[in-house]
Amino acid sequence: MVKNDEGDEYFGRMNDPTSVGVIKGPCGDTMEIYIVVRNDTVEDVKYFTDGCGNTRSCGHAVARRAIGRKVTDALSISAGEIIRSGECKQESGRHCAILAVSTLYRAIADYLLKA
Ligand code: FES
Repeated sequence: MVKNDEGDEYFGRMNDPTSVGVIKGPCGDTMEIYIVVRNDTVEDVKYFTDGCGNTRSCGHAVARRAIGRKVTDALSISAGEIIRSGECKQESGRHCAILAVSTLYRAIADYLLKA
């Protein structure tokens, strides 16, 4: 794992994830979500993005919610939930939440489709 230097325990890349999701948003930012799954439970999550602070906040919000949940339960994490929580800018940053959640879904789909 790449250790982050800004105090966000979920920020960084992972060398040995169970699966990965990577999506480039329409704004040009890329989100990467790495998950470790055991017994259908998300045991660890890291996110990495070259995007702005709000994008990072959304990556953090998604990672924090996903850890410890069953993979199918983690699919119920929604962009609306992240936006309503105040962890993401309500208006200008909505697409950041959508990007983060969509990337989590892609990582989970990658796991489910190869399981
Ligand atoms: Fe591009 Fe947040 S500004 S995803």
